Amino acid sequence: MTTGTTIASLADVPESGSLLFTVADGHAEDREAILVRCDEEPGVRAWINTCPHEYQRLDRGRGAAMRDGEIICPKHGSMFDACSGECDNGEAAGTTLPSVSVAVEDGEVLLADDDYTFRHEGGIDDDGPSSTSHIGF
Ligand code: FES
Repeated sequence: MTTGTTIASLADVPESGSLLFTVADGHAEDREAILVRCDEEPGVRAWINTCPHEYQRLDRGRGAAMRDGEIICPKHGSMFDACSGECDNGEAAGTTLPSVSVAVEDGEVLLADDDYTFRHEGGIDDDGPSSTSHIGF
């Protein structure tokens, strides 16, 4: 039996695109991560939301661009396999997205990675009343 914090329902992970969430790493630094669909078990993967080529968010708050099971970097267009995180094309060729381990239990996606602590859904700035998000009053 897996234990871990629920990130989201599997049903909430878009078929194409990504679900953005925030974790804290071992230094208590907030990091953004994304959940994406994958054809391999358990049907979902989580990756740190930064292109390894240059600092660039893959999901800029509206879901990452995806095509044919690959995540497309918005800056130079390199494509990363949604299941393996590997890139074999463009500027980021030869890199792999840093992974965040997740598990699926009873339709819920759970964080299963001792290196990270779940903070909240959404990006780093989307953390509630003190948020600096763009949502008006
Ligand atoms: S920043 Fe992503 S491919 Fe260059």
